[in-house]
Amino acid sequence: MDKTENQMLIIFGASGDLTARKLIPAIYNLYKGNHLPENYVVLGASRSAWSDDDFRKKVVEESKYLEEELKDVDKDFISGFCNKLFYHPLKEDYSCLNERIIKMNGEFGTDDNFIFYFSVPPAIYESLAKNIYDQGLHNEDKGWKRIIVEKPFGYSLETAKKLNIALHKYFKEPQIFRIDHYLGKETVQNLLVTRFANSIFEPLWNRNYIRHVEVTNAESVGVEKRGGYYDNSGALRDMFQNHLLQIVSLIIMEPPIGSNAEEIRNEKVKALKSLRVMTDDKTLHENTIRGQYVASVIDGENVKGYREEEGVDPNSTTETYAAIKFFVDNWRWADVPFYVRTAKRMPTKVTEVVIHFKSPHHQIFKESGIIDKDNKLVIRIQPDEGVLIKFGVKVPGQGFRVERANLDFYYSSLADTYVMTAYERLLLDAMQGDATLYARADEVEAAWEFVDPILNFWKNSDAKVYGYSAGVWGPENADDLIDGVAMWRNPSANLADDPGFCVLK
Ligand code: BG6
Repeated sequence: MDKTENQMLIIFGASGDLTARKLIPAIYNLYKGNHLPENYVVLGASRSAWSDDDFRKKVVEESKYLEEELKDVDKDFISGFCNKLFYHPLKEDYSCLNERIIKMNGEFGTDDNFIFYFSVPPAIYESLAKNIYDQGLHNEDKGWKRIIVEKPFGYSLETAKKLNIALHKYFKEPQIFRIDHYLGKETVQNLLVTRFANSIFEPLWNRNYIRHVEVTNAESVGVEKRGGYYDNSGALRDMFQNHLLQIVSLIIMEPPIGSNAEEIRNEKVKALKSLRVMTDDKTLHENTIRGQYVASVIDGENVKGYREEEGVDPNSTTETYAAIKFFVDNWRWADVPFYVRTAKRMPTKVTEVVIHFKSPHHQIFKESGIIDKDNKLVIRIQPDEGVLIKFGVKVPGQGFRVERANLDFYYSSLADTYVMTAYERLLLDAMQGDATLYARADEVEAAWEFVDPILNFWKNSDAKVYGYSAGVWGPENADDLIDGVAMWRNPSANLADDPGFCVLK
């Protein structure tokens, strides 16, 4: 593993939810796992008038996110961690912050190496970058400087381009780490390993053997307390443009010549650029579906519909369900349909990639019904992380009756191996300057290029918004609209109250 140099992490938006929920627990785990360099400090900064002690209390001692983790942990060990955490109440004028950073740098020996984490609303990314720049904190004459930018990265192709231009005024591309936490998931990275560290998959990984590819991202929760944000975003911006297209790029990319950041990202960009952009209304109408969850009863409990959620416009047409069929225009994938969907308020939380292989060209066991039971490679991103191959075996007895059997691998079987959380892994990579699992400017723009026409079509056309009961697998009849058949692998839903198929707009 690469050496991690002494450094300081400055978190903007330190009093926000992400810091307490993800960042501090990730840093704690890095501390526990002995991954932090000898000299390492965190400086939280935000508008709240907190002291260092307030910050430590809120994000460690009284944090519900670390409660379980710290239960039986030695007090000195926890203080050792808290002593690395500091807080600076941010004023309009960043010179005080600058002074504090310079003072702490000298005091704690962080060697002028700074990471600035932008855990703030996207609207202030540019002014924040400018403030850091104006204080000279971007300067790499002594030590390195990096920024980590949270999603959403832009609201459309145009805004993403503008944001890239704005950030490039103050930082060079190698200093900018655009975080997509799905890339920090072990199982997402394993897509690369499954494909390129084995010789048995790659020969089959093309249009000659693959009939279609399915990616499902389902969440059982609704929009929770994020109605205000979500109503201006929707499933396509929130999940599809970033996390799911990142997964797609790893499925479709060509083998890179090596495993360094640029080699891998060059191939991902090429892959994203080969997605066939849908431009005419007919194609968009036939290949995209949006839906919205409506009130329901799940396990005896009333569940609100999306339009009743706090912060959501009661007439909102924002999608909480999006299913897109598309093609990849290159030699490897020509004519292979990709079906990708993401949604909130599904029966369960699951993200998986399913590679559906073609039937054997000549069927000799026809009576066994094998035609409907083709080989599948299921890559379970979460939960029950693992890989499963479905293949045909002979049922013992007379004749040749074929049934499907599973060959499976579960990450949980690696009991002795600690699997880092996504934020842990990504923070550690940024600390070591490894941008492989971060999105590059052109990568983000290529993803927006594909998504933009769908967003515009949904905004400007009379495309329907299908209702689905909270707790079912989306607007099922609407699923059938793609290709006239239900394409998805759906575990059965346990529903008390299902109003069935309905159209909300
Ligand atoms: C975030 C989205 O990026 O990912 C959320 O903004 C979503 O709406 C979350 O719930 C899902 O992440 P995970 O890791 O739980 O699948």
